[in-house]
Amino acid sequence: MRQILVTSALPYANGHIHIGHLVEYLQTDIWVRFQKLRGHRCIYICADDTHGTAISIRAHQEGRSEEEIIAEMQAAHIRDFSGFEIEFDHYGSTNSPENRDLCGEIWSALRKADMVVEKEIEQLFDVERGTFLADRFVRGTCPKCESGNQPGDNCGNCGATYSPVDLIDPVSSLSGSRPEKRKATHLFVQIEQLHDFLDEWTQSGALPTESSNYLKNFFLNEALRDWDISRPAPYFGFEIPDSPGNYWYVWFDAPIGYMGSTRKWCELNDENLDDWWRNPDTEVHHFIGKDIQYFHTLFWPAMLKTAGFSLPTKVHIHGFLQVDGEKMSKSRGTFIQASTYLKHLDPAALRYYYASKLSSKVNDLDLNLEEFATKVNSDLVGKVVNLASRTARFVKDVGLSAEYPDDGGLFEAGAAQGEKIAEAYEAGDFNKAMRLIMELADKANPYVEANAPWELRKDPEKADKLQAVCTVALNLFRQLAVYLAPVLPRLAEQAGALLKAPILSWDDAANPLLGSELSKFEHMMQRIDPKKINAMIEESREDQEQEQDQQTTGHSYQDDDAALKAEPIIEEITIDDFAKVDFRVARIVEAKEVPEARKLVQLTLSLGGEETRNVFAGIKSAYDLDELQGRLVVMVANLAARKMKFGISEGMVIASGPGGEDIFLLSPDDGAVPGQRVH
Ligand code: 2FM
Ligand code: ZN
Repeated sequence: MRQILVTSALPYANGHIHIGHLVEYLQTDIWVRFQKLRGHRCIYICADDTHGTAISIRAHQEGRSEEEIIAEMQAAHIRDFSGFEIEFDHYGSTNSPENRDLCGEIWSALRKADMVVEKEIEQLFDVERGTFLADRFVRGTCPKCESGNQPGDNCGNCGATYSPVDLIDPVSSLSGSRPEKRKATHLFVQIEQLHDFLDEWTQSGALPTESSNYLKNFFLNEALRDWDISRPAPYFGFEIPDSPGNYWYVWFDAPIGYMGSTRKWCELNDENLDDWWRNPDTEVHHFIGKDIQYFHTLFWPAMLKTAGFSLPTKVHIHGFLQVDGEKMSKSRGTFIQASTYLKHLDPAALRYYYASKLSSKVNDLDLNLEEFATKVNSDLVGKVVNLASRTARFVKDVGLSAEYPDDGGLFEAGAAQGEKIAEAYEAGDFNKAMRLIMELADKANPYVEANAPWELRKDPEKADKLQAVCTVALNLFRQLAVYLAPVLPRLAEQAGALLKAPILSWDDAANPLLGSELSKFEHMMQRIDPKKINAMIEESREDQEQEQDQQTTGHSYQDDDAALKAEPIIEEITIDDFAKVDFRVARIVEAKEVPEARKLVQLTLSLGGEETRNVFAGIKSAYDLDELQGRLVVMVANLAARKMKFGISEGMVIASGPGGEDIFLLSPDDGAVPGQRVH
């Protein structure tokens, strides 16, 4: 029995799980379930990646604490994962005491090995927000081609790469203010000290060939650059014990989170961390996307090596998800959240579809929505579930035959494929495994067709034959359910329940079930209706539109305080004082010029029915008469009438702004009607 520790990349706590993430979590879950079914001791460890600037920005925007946000997001992540039947042995958080301790332990080892150096670097500092700015939070004019509004690290126009301090007229996207240059001391890890070790390790077979080959040249040509692993306060993370005011950069504590989460699992299960992370007999497998290879193939092994932990046995690297041949797109509705998918479709369908496309290569995976429906319907519903749904009810009362009938060698041939299918799973070639399994299904179905149990049941004399045919079909179904169990755990459970024999091990595929009773056949899987796919896409598009609206209206945090300073808040009033002012929605039914007046226009305001008011408003400099005609405004309706030079004013319309062109009438949202009181 092997002892295997498996991880997926820790998802960031500042966003929800979407179908792109699911490629990795499903891939890992399938591999783990396969190992467990084969009888190995295997644990699947994950956690939320909680630290860093993005979380702080979100907390600031939402006026909440970072802790509140990460707790809420962790609950959402766990809900989404379990909706897809992704089963962790432990799902922790990088913001945990166990993780902090392990960061300290690895840090001490790096210090002891003399790998940490201090360097002063210049960075942009947002004075208004009191924080240093990471590259992606600065925009400005490219120092090379002078094209405006370019990102902090490289120019979208000419392609030049630069440091944000070199931008001309930089602007902080956090506050909209102009940041200043400030010096700060950062701590760096000199991983070049491990050049030879890393060169060798990256060629040791732990990585996919594509990655090893790429790194081979990399090592030949370059010294490894020092890795900047500290950030000055304020930063949401762990403060570095021997460097007060500095924090470990999120990418330092994130992979250590694999261990932190394992340590928590150990505590809960009376296990020992070293048995999993310092034991040459324990395999450690990481599943990650190609975008975060560097961290896992250079920095992470350097940290593990220095602190005397096991190195990864294998880093499994996958490509990105595309939908219908293109990048996931919010406006096309193909940026689909896990929770949105679950509202419309069966998780088993995506599990199977991804499995049928995944290989051990670092290729991108295309979710072709038409193929998705066809494949699930024809393979799972048409070839697998059908074996049971067309036969189970005919033997409900008699059960399975006591001896295995002659099936022309079908079951045995299926059992003989077991090792080949297992090898494909082991190698991560799930597409091959699915193909081999479907080849078996393609042989089982003609057997049922040829023996037509629905005909046999009409003739009482053929009862034995009917039982024999159904026994074969149900055993072939069960064999497929065993092989598919890592991908379709629910189907395996349903098969176990139907045949009153739970599927517990891979070897269950090698031994037919005989003489057993059957439960009533319960519905197992529905065909995918393309309408549901469309509804899911439509909902994703709507989600995106809503999100965009929130973004355009929700940026009040960038407002400066000039208006408030110019006109500070006046003395407090009671609610009763407020209630004395009768604000009403009114419609401007007529707007007329007052020729002699510089600032005034004359408005006739309707409060509904016959009720109107004549009001002189000082808004001439900001509005044309045409724009005013017909619009809704808010007025004070119980203001004592005032005699003015041009006539009597019977109220007042409400507006903000300093005057001149900057006068802004208040108007109610759609739906309000004249005469309604504003409370
Ligand atoms: O890329 C990401 O989503 C990171 N949150 C992955 C971290 S993986 C590990 F190192 F923790
Ligand atoms: Zn440029």
